[in-house]
Amino acid sequence: MLSYAGIQNPYALGKYSVEKNAKVMQRYRFIHESLLRIAAGHLPAREDWDIKVALGKHLYEDAEAADRLRARITELRTSSAVLNQEPDAALSLLMDELIHARNDLELMVGIYGVIKPALLDAYRSHTATTQQIVDQPTIRMLRSMILDLEDQLSWGEQMIVSLQQSGIYGDNGDQFKAGIASLLAAAGGIDGQQPKTAVLPHRIRSHEPYRIPLKSVRDPRKMGPVTWARTSVLNPPEDPVQRSLLAKMRVRQEEMTAAELIAAVLFSQKNMPWEFYRDLARHLWDEVRHALFGQAALESEGIDWMSRPQYTSDYDVNAPKIPGAQYAWLAIGIEEGAMKRPGKAGEFEFCRDEAKHPLMTQFQDYDWADEVVHANLGRKWSPDLIGEDISFVREIAKNELDHFWTEVRRAQAQWNEGAS
Ligand SMILES: [Fe+2]
Ligand SMILES: [Fe+2]
Repeated sequence: MLSYAGIQNPYALGKYSVEKNAKVMQRYRFIHESLLRIAAGHLPAREDWDIKVALGKHLYEDAEAADRLRARITELRTSSAVLNQEPDAALSLLMDELIHARNDLELMVGIYGVIKPALLDAYRSHTATTQQIVDQPTIRMLRSMILDLEDQLSWGEQMIVSLQQSGIYGDNGDQFKAGIASLLAAAGGIDGQQPKTAVLPHRIRSHEPYRIPLKSVRDPRKMGPVTWARTSVLNPPEDPVQRSLLAKMRVRQEEMTAAELIAAVLFSQKNMPWEFYRDLARHLWDEVRHALFGQAALESEGIDWMSRPQYTSDYDVNAPKIPGAQYAWLAIGIEEGAMKRPGKAGEFEFCRDEAKHPLMTQFQDYDWADEVVHANLGRKWSPDLIGEDISFVREIAKNELDHFWTEVRRAQAQWNEGAS
């Protein structure tokens, strides 16, 4: 069709007035932001490595979706004041209960068995039934979210089957899934347009707040024990360059612990502007990607990294600290610090010029680029988190680093003793 720029059904009356559209999208926004916070709260607590990875990717996609919804809602004669409000008490209860998932399978069936499939249905229906000319900006936005949701669900459905087949979980997550589904129904579904009764469900587990763990978790069935020491690979090569290259791959793989620390900041820090949570979601996913750089580099060399001890210091050593100290430690202490030579530039040049390893060279090239962004995020947010200027924050970060290295050196000395 050449007319209407190819837009189909130009004469059909749409289902959404401006007011109704903004109201429904306010629910979508709330759901994505809640899923972002729930994924952050669970990342350090979940066992399965692949679940941690996917939570990192999907929470970034949820943050991006929420960000676009925020912009679109305010285009619809709606004050930005609503963007920080909870649209529906029943929807809030649903999210309060979802975060109380007690194991990997419960979290997976709640997100990928109930809420995200319902979101996908809602977005498909919304794009099909809204007026195609008047609401084209919404349609374009929702189409990209539909693509993300389709990828997320194809991963999530496979993960649920895999966890169910493992035989670890008694009831296949059925009871928790049914509870989440009934809470979603009580909220009138994703868009709130399904029939609601005047009977509000009771709390099931959410009488108490969800707590993130003080020590991050690794799958005890598939992975080596957690440690605060760097343990590189089994039987490292004699050649010092090869030895250092493989150790570097392992350090990249261990960056999951940095992602978990950002998850703790994202989850625990209240009352920051929305942009803070959006930026930290990206920062978090970048660190998960860095862990994947290491995983991919090691696996491409045929090296088993999963049965090795798993480094958890970034999270565990910093876990008792307040979010501002945690973020200053990472983004100013570690990441801004890595901008000085040799730092990130030196790692890249080592892989390119000494180890001459094309894949690791490419990984370090982008790792360096990401870290420049992260150091900027540190300078942007740490002063707000702490309520002091950047020079004072750098003093704090230095003290946090001193505390960290004391703990880690002790663990490293113990490991070296045992290994020699
Ligand atoms: Fe990193
Ligand atoms: Fe980083």
